[in-house]
Formats: sequence, structure tokens, C-alpha cells
Amino acid sequence: MRGVALWFFASAIVYVMAGMMFGIWMAASHDHGLAPAHGHLNLIGWVTMALFGIYYHLVPSAAESRLATLHFAIATLGVWLIVPGITLAIRGTTEILAILGAFTTLTSMVLFLVIVLRNQRPALA
Ligand code: HEM
Ligand code: HEM
Repeated sequence: MRGVALWFFASAIVYVMAGMMFGIWMAASHDHGLAPAHGHLNLIGWVTMALFGIYYHLVPSAAESRLATLHFAIATLGVWLIVPGITLAIRGTTEILAILGAFTTLTSMVLFLVIVLRNQRPALA
């Protein structure tokens, strides 16, 4: 694994380590109030980013395109906005960061669909 595939996969591992520490902190403190922030750090940061990494590893032509680098930047920004955003929304501070994070994450997924469709191969190729 290398290039964009590695960036996605390595950052996913960093996110799940952070998510696990977050989970352990919640369990230890008996305060599960931020569970949705923990859940989405793991589900968007780990599961989704790791799936992107595996896809780019399997489809090198997609990984080599400039769109893939843009996809990594937008997906990363999404994680960095939505996780603190959910935390601030739960705390009642502001919802704006969560909203921005949600639409950034959605944009990254739309871009991913475009990339997947542009890199189709005949079934036996
Ligand atoms: C060391 C590892 C982890 C620990 C200690 C941990 C701990 C926790 C705790 C204490 C809660 C709150 C449960 C409740 O209030 O009912 C929780 C919720 C949750 N966790 Fe984890 N977790 C870990 C890893 C993960 C991973 C790897 C994922 C996903 C891939 C995950 C996904 C979730 C989800 C989706 C929720 C529910 C969020 C919600 O209620 O909105 N967790 N976790
Ligand atoms: C733009 C991206 C996303 C947004 C805005 C979003 C939003 C939400 C919201 C508002 C909730 C309810 C939280 C609560 O009950 O306090 C939720 C729960 C949840 N989301 Fe997401 N989500 C997103 C992406 C994802 C993804 C990619 C996954 C899985 C890979 C996921 C899995 C879950 C799960 C497992 C729960 C908890 C369901 C439960 O407690 O029954 N979400 N999400």
C-alpha cells in the first residue's frame, strides 16, 4: 500500500486509536454523554477512511488521479470538523461546526462516487 491509499489507511488507524482512547475515557469516567462524537470518530474516521484506503489500494488508477488527493483533503477536513462539531452541539455551544462537518463529509462521499464511476473496469479486466 502506498500513496493516497496509505494516507487514508494510516490516518484511519490514528483515528481509531484516538476513538478507542475516547471510549476508554468515557467508560472510565462513567460519562457517556459524548458517545455520538466517539461513535462518529470511529465510524467516519476509522471505518469510512479505511474503506476509502482499501478501495484506492485495489484500484491504483483511481489513486493516481488528482481527484483522489482532493478526496483525501475533503474527507480529512470532514472528520476534523464533524467530531468536534458533534461535541460542541451536544454541549449546546454551537451546531455550526457539526453542520459544516456533515456537509463536508457528504461532499467527500459524492466525490468518491464520481471517482468510483470514473474508474470502472470491465468485469474480467
Ligand atoms: C477501546 C475501544 C472502545 C471503547 C472502550 C468504547 C467505548 C464506548 C462507550 C463507553 C460507549 C457508550 C455506550 C453507551 O452509552 O451505551 C460507546 C458507544 C459507541 N461506540 Fe465505542 N468504544 C470503543 C471502540 C469503538 C469502535 C472501534 C467503534 C466503531 C468502529 C465504536 C462505535 C461506537 C458507537 C457507534 C457507539 C454509540 C454512539 C451513539 O450512541 O451515538 N466504538 N463506545
Ligand atoms: C455526514 C455524516 C453523518 C452524519 C451527519 C450523521 C449523523 C448522525 C446523528 C444526528 C445521529 C444521532 C445521534 C444521537 O442519537 O445523539 C447518528 C447516529 C449514528 N450514526 Fe451517524 N451520521 C453520519 C455518518 C455516519 C456513518 C458514516 C456511519 C457508519 C459508518 C454512522 C453511524 C451511526 C450510528 C451507528 C449511530 C447510532 C445509532 C443509534 O444510536 O441507534 N453515521 N448519526
